[in-house]
Amino acid sequence: MSDVHTFDPFAKEPAYIHVNERLIERVMKRLGSVGVIQLLEQAAGTGLPTALMYKRARKTGVKLFATLLDLDLRALYQARIEVDEANATYVYGSADKLPFGQQSYDAVFFANGLHLLDAEAKRDALKESYRVLKPGGLFAMNTTFYYEAYPEESKPFYGRWIRRSIVEINQRLPGRTKSNKVQAMEFLTADDYRDLVNDAGFEIIEWRQRRVMLSQAAVRAISSYKDFAMGALHATEEDAEQAAQSLQATVRQTFHDLQMQYLPRTWLEIIAVKA
Ligand SMILES: C[S@@+](CC[C@H](N)C(=O)[O-])C[C@H]1O[C@@H](n2cnc3c(N)ncnc32)[C@H](O)[C@@H]1O
Repeated sequence: MSDVHTFDPFAKEPAYIHVNERLIERVMKRLGSVGVIQLLEQAAGTGLPTALMYKRARKTGVKLFATLLDLDLRALYQARIEVDEANATYVYGSADKLPFGQQSYDAVFFANGLHLLDAEAKRDALKESYRVLKPGGLFAMNTTFYYEAYPEESKPFYGRWIRRSIVEINQRLPGRTKSNKVQAMEFLTADDYRDLVNDAGFEIIEWRQRRVMLSQAAVRAISSYKDFAMGALHATEEDAEQAAQSLQATVRQTFHDLQMQYLPRTWLEIIAVKA
C-alpha cells in the first residue's frame, strides 16, 4: 500500500513531538495529583499524544486508561503498535458522534485534528467532547492549520514551494483535473477556535500560540500526509501520491533558494474545563 496516507512520518518529527509534549505537560499540570486518569483522544491518528501521555504518566506514577478514537482504521492499527499499552482501547468512530456514555473521562484531547472537520462536525465534536467529560474534566486541543499559523517571514517559502510543486505535478500528470474540495483551505482564526470551544460550554483556562521551527525533514514528512498534500495542491484522491511526491521533491530547493534553515510555524493551543 502507498505511503501517502497516515500522519505517522510527521508524528516522528522532533518539532512535532515537542509541541505535543508541551500540551501534555500543561494538561498534566492542570490535572494535578490524581492517581488514575481516564483519557479520550479524539481523532487519535497514530496515537502520538496518547503515547506521550503514557510516558508522562509512568514518570509520575499515574495510572492511565486511554481510549483512542479515529475514523481511519489503518491509523488505528498503527496507533496500537505505537502506543503499545495494555490499558489502551482503540475505537473506530467519528469525533462528532461518540459511542460512549456521559461523563466518563477526566481529559479529552483533540490534537492536530479539529481543523479537518467541517463546520457542523467541529461544533458537534466539541459538544460530544463536553458531554463525555466528567464535571471538572479538561479539554485540550492544538492545531497548526489556522489563519495565524504562518509567520510573515514564512510566507515567501509557501508561495515559492507551491509554485514549484505545481510545475512538478503538472509534469508528472499532464492535464490533471484539480479537485474542487477546499476543506483544508478553509482556515479559522485563533479567535474562531476560542469561540467554538466556548460555545460548546467550556471555560477556557489556557490559550497560547507556540512558535515551532520546522526542519526540511519535517516539511517533507508533512508533505507525505494525504490530507495535507491534497489540500496544498488541490489534488484528487487518485493524484494524492503524486501530489505528495511533488511537494517532497521541491522542499530542499525552496529552502536553498531562500537560504532558510528552518520554516517557522505557529501552533494554537487551548485548554478548557467543563465547569
Ligand atoms: C493529523 S492527524 C492527528 C493525529 C493525532 N491526534 C496527533 O496529534 O498526532 C488527524 C486525524 O484526524 C482523523 N479524523 C479526521 N476526521 C475525523 C473524525 N470526524 N472523527 C475521528 N477522527 C477524524 C484522521 O483520520 C487523522 O487520523
